[in-house]
Amino acid sequence: MKLLIDDADTTKIRRLWEYYPCDGVTTNPSILAKSGRKPYEVLLEIRSIIGAKADLHVQVLSRKSDDMVAEAHRIVETLGEATIVKIPATEEGLRAIRQLNAQGISVTATAIYTPMQAFLAGKAGADYAAPYVNRIDNLSGDGIQTAKEIHDMFQANGMKTQVLAASFKNARQVLELARHGIGGATVGTAVFEALLDNACVDHAVEAFMTDFEACHGTGKTMLDI
Ligand code: G3P
Repeated sequence: MKLLIDDADTTKIRRLWEYYPCDGVTTNPSILAKSGRKPYEVLLEIRSIIGAKADLHVQVLSRKSDDMVAEAHRIVETLGEATIVKIPATEEGLRAIRQLNAQGISVTATAIYTPMQAFLAGKAGADYAAPYVNRIDNLSGDGIQTAKEIHDMFQANGMKTQVLAASFKNARQVLELARHGIGGATVGTAVFEALLDNACVDHAVEAFMTDFEACHGTGKTMLDI
């Protein structure tokens, strides 16, 4: 399962990218607006942080499919070939996904709330389908189950489309989908940091150091003895 950062805060991305095994960054128009910066300026900075080969997902804003296609080309031309264009899985979106697939542009079908929507996006040629786990839960659905069902459906039909689950509220949701072997999870920075947040680990590591230092001196490591 790929692990991506769902954020456009370049300070946070820079830190997570340095310390964690990340596969890319996803954004959406709300996330870009929250950055308070010019969209291409912040996206180019993200590209420079993650390098030319890592996945960068960027969403179109157009309402009509022909405009979505034109926007997709502009996004990829500006941000490089490893950029994956997010297209909402609407009727207009499906038409755009089919065209972009034929033109060799990678697409993430986004705003997925149902397996049927994902199925249609997969048939249209999307590389990824992004179910919104937490938002589905908030509609009294089961976001994790929906993501798993979509993954199984793609496999059962021999489709190339991978599930890229989004909208997480806790680490357990991410783990459940990793266990199921879905294509990817994109996680906001707060939940991302919670993936490793465990006071027991900190305590164990600190105890090892305290024991060693009691024997060999403060600040001593295997380099000093
Ligand atoms: O791109 C979709 C995803 O970022 C949604 O997350 O937390 O706004 O539901 P959230």
